[in-house]
Amino acid sequence: MKKILVTGSLGQIGSELVPALRKRYGRDNVVATDIRMPATIELRDDGPFEFLDVVDPHHITRVMQIYDVGTVYHLAAVLSATAESRPNIAWQINMNGLYNMLEAARQYHCSMFVPSSIGAFGPSTPRDNTPQDTIQRPGTIYGVTKVAGELLCDYYYVRFGLDTRGVRFPGLISHVTEPGGGTTDYAVSIFYEAIKHRKFTCYLRSDTQLDMMYMPDAVRAMIDVMEADPSKLVHRNSFNVTAMSFTPSQLADEIRKHFADFVISYDVDTVRQNIADSWPNYMDDSAARSEWGWKPEYDLPRMTLDMIDVLSRRLVGQHEKQPS
Ligand code: SER
Repeated sequence: MKKILVTGSLGQIGSELVPALRKRYGRDNVVATDIRMPATIELRDDGPFEFLDVVDPHHITRVMQIYDVGTVYHLAAVLSATAESRPNIAWQINMNGLYNMLEAARQYHCSMFVPSSIGAFGPSTPRDNTPQDTIQRPGTIYGVTKVAGELLCDYYYVRFGLDTRGVRFPGLISHVTEPGGGTTDYAVSIFYEAIKHRKFTCYLRSDTQLDMMYMPDAVRAMIDVMEADPSKLVHRNSFNVTAMSFTPSQLADEIRKHFADFVISYDVDTVRQNIADSWPNYMDDSAARSEWGWKPEYDLPRMTLDMIDVLSRRLVGQHEKQPS
């Protein structure tokens, strides 16, 4: 079979997507790439790995020439808060990196998955039950790159027949790798702090409602949309997908069902609050449900239970290994 190439494979999504792809399609059929080297020998021995900076087209060509790539999962990108503090880097990676990968996919006849985000919406978008096709005028550089990315992927499909597909992810919650530089990251950090210290200071207001998804559902969404019957796809590059929608206060209530003494306090960061305030409360994901059968498995209680279960065992294990 032709190889599957994953960019940004050591990031929050790639760290869980790569093992899932290897389990499904075979270890040697999935080429992981990143601008960092894997931190452990175990990760290095898990399957093929290549150093790849998506901003440099020569790097991409080199890797494409080594492997017979048929599918690309292009995950290399910076998240919303980092993008806001370094717009130039955000444009370089999110836009130029995407353009370079699309060009390589076109040249080497690959299909390509590109994640978009709730960040592709803005303050003038309807906040409740946000439609699949609606106003997209984001006020962040992250949002600008996400809308432009959706359009660019549509363009490559219409203009060159490149099989591009993608989803608009909500905040992703995971326990393998922590996210970096996102606005929704509080929903990951809160679990570490709840388990370790039974308290958490949140940088978003208590009533900030946002869509979220647990990583096993996100991984399934990426694989399912790429395996979907192309004749059924109308939207291709920008499917709304969601699994749950909650506020920091509601997440804290759910955590309190496991740790009754858990306390949340608030110290609002205006940059991230403004970003969150411009994003939907909850999206309508019926197009993904009807066009390729999207259906999440994890709601708020089930995700919380699993996060606490897995992280508690890991963090207690780490604690026991500490020298006294
Ligand atoms: N989770 C991302 C962020 O917060 C949104 O796609 O930036």
